Amino acid sequence: MGKVKNKKIVITGASSGIGAEGARQLAAEGAYVILVARRSDELEQVVADIRKNGGQAEAHTADLSNYDDIDALAEALLAKHGKVDVLINNAGRSIRRSVRNSLERFHDYERCMQINYFGLVRLTLKLLPPMLEAGDGHIVNVTTWATLVPSPRFAAYVASKKAVDGFTESLDTELTGTGVSTTLVHYPLVRTPMIAPTKLYSQLPAMSVEKAGRWLVKAVKRRPKRVVSPSMFSMGVGTMMNPRMSRWVSRKLGI
Ligand SMILES: NC(=O)c1ccc[n+]([C@@H]2O[C@H](COP(=O)([O-])OP(=O)(O)OC[C@H]3O[C@@H](n4cnc5c(N)ncnc54)[C@H](OP(=O)(O)O)[C@@H]3O)[C@@H](O)[C@H]2O)c1
Repeated sequence: MGKVKNKKIVITGASSGIGAEGARQLAAEGAYVILVARRSDELEQVVADIRKNGGQAEAHTADLSNYDDIDALAEALLAKHGKVDVLINNAGRSIRRSVRNSLERFHDYERCMQINYFGLVRLTLKLLPPMLEAGDGHIVNVTTWATLVPSPRFAAYVASKKAVDGFTESLDTELTGTGVSTTLVHYPLVRTPMIAPTKLYSQLPAMSVEKAGRWLVKAVKRRPKRVVSPSMFSMGVGTMMNPRMSRWVSRKLGI
């Protein structure tokens, strides 16, 4: 089991939801957490909560869909810390809209790719070299169960997360023997502000944000290749084996 105490852990999207909770839990385990998001008041509130409980944290405001912001953030982090031990790429946005209702909305696809994929890749490329030099590092990329099964109405979002899965798996294979590794965390529906606008989700079972935070702690401690629930994993295997049936099930569920 890897140690968490005094590890320098960058968590993007830490002003809310899973990122904020993950930061609180990792700090409670003794990590030095470095929080990143756009909303500074929300970030400072999470930092204040962590410090009040005896934890160590700092906040950086950055728009991770903006390359200049990402470069400035990476420069500031490397100047101050030299190397971060763990990068948790959690910041993201979701769009729930069918392709037929997005025919005039190419920007939906661009916006999802910009924050969910290109932002993640750019920050990773900046923070990876010192990890390789030190022969130790861990990149945790937050993705979704929806990359494992057909997900109607989420083409823009799921495509951007599948890009994350592909990047992560290729990178991880290249990293063999370097001391640096990656983890993909496939969350199911989690009760956070992200799903609040969709009324249907208030009636569906969803993972608590506390449990989602524990998944991040588990990822950092154990460095698995993938964190996913057994039922989602089985559904992913079922999709590979019987794509017609899995599409029928997804349509019936209507989520
Ligand atoms: N909730 C779910 O059901 C679910 C399921 C599967 C996967 N996920 C994934 O889990 C991750 C966290 O989502 P969540 O549910 O915790 O949602 P959330 O509460 O809405 O949090 C999203 C976080 O991303 C940050 N963010 C968004 N755009 C950003 C940008 N351009 N630059 C910097 N930060 C940005 C937000 O901060 P600011 O607004 O302050 O910038 C916020 O801290 C996402 O990657 C999401 O795709 C969620």
